[in-house]
Amino acid sequence: MKEQLERIYTNAVADIEKVDSISLLEDVKGKYLSRKGEFNEIKKNLKNLSDEDKRIVGSLANDITSKLEKLVQEKYDSLYKTELNKKLQKERIDVTLPGKFVPKGKVHPLTSTTHEIVSILQGLGFSVVESKDSPEVETEYFNFDMLNIPKDHPARDVQDTFFTTLAPNVVLRSQTSGAQIHVMENKKPPIRVISPGRVYRNENINARKYNFFHQIEGLYVDKNITFGDLKGVLNEFIRIYFGASRPTRFRSSFFPFTEPSAEVDVQCIMCGGKGCRTCSGTGWLEILGAGMVDPNVLRGVGIDPEIYSGFAFGMGVERLAMLKYAIDDIRLFFNDDVRFLNQF
Ligand code: DAH
Repeated sequence: MKEQLERIYTNAVADIEKVDSISLLEDVKGKYLSRKGEFNEIKKNLKNLSDEDKRIVGSLANDITSKLEKLVQEKYDSLYKTELNKKLQKERIDVTLPGKFVPKGKVHPLTSTTHEIVSILQGLGFSVVESKDSPEVETEYFNFDMLNIPKDHPARDVQDTFFTTLAPNVVLRSQTSGAQIHVMENKKPPIRVISPGRVYRNENINARKYNFFHQIEGLYVDKNITFGDLKGVLNEFIRIYFGASRPTRFRSSFFPFTEPSAEVDVQCIMCGGKGCRTCSGTGWLEILGAGMVDPNVLRGVGIDPEIYSGFAFGMGVERLAMLKYAIDDIRLFFNDDVRFLNQF
């Protein structure tokens, strides 16, 4: 039996030596060391030996088993290392290879300009109205009547305003100023809101005009609001948006819903004030209309103009973007030409 044990041992050592993978090593381990392995078969026959032989052969079998277990473990460790290295080598990533090209979408310049304007005005204390107070499909009541725009005002003319077939007095809004009425009908002063959105006008399309564009309306109503506050807010807005070095001017004007009214011009970016085609030779470009809210408008929404006063303004987003980025044709915003859009 001793010889038998030693023979098995020699074979096992040779087998272990030969294997070159962990799975083959598992097979060898099974063949010799498992419950059904060759050593256990021998150990089963120990009971037929004398006590003396049992001890000798038994302890030899144990010795050999533990030696083999050690060998198997060593072999396992070394195979594990080699296999791991092989795997790492195979799965190695070449970080120097060029990546796959993924075309990247960009924010539309009108969207980013709107975000920029809104965030400047938020910094000055204004908050954006809820969308329910700023619908694009509007009644004449909000778009005109309550803004003190008389029935015979040319702005109501079918030439300018898109009427709908929904009902006789339903229009696509021609200005965001109607949001003022929505807000003031629902909320008492102090009110300090802005309302960005799209407006529609029945214009002949050219480099300066499109049949829809975007405005940002502003409204501030409280006690003791003066024209000085209006100038302060708008000057600060312009300084932040254009930078301090861009000359601007306030010019007196007229809007039915403000009294007094003003328009704000900034120096033409195309000619630097010398006068060119873009600014029709004046050197200036209008960016917004503004004024003190007309007492008639306040009265209409139930705010007492003896107690409260306010200012309002409406600026054109396309205008502001064109002036900042020197874009000379409004149609570029709506053509979806990626050569244009990629520049932003
Ligand atoms: N709604 C005017 C327009 O579309 C712009 C405007 C002028 C808005 C004066 C105002 C304002 O709030 O006070 O031309």
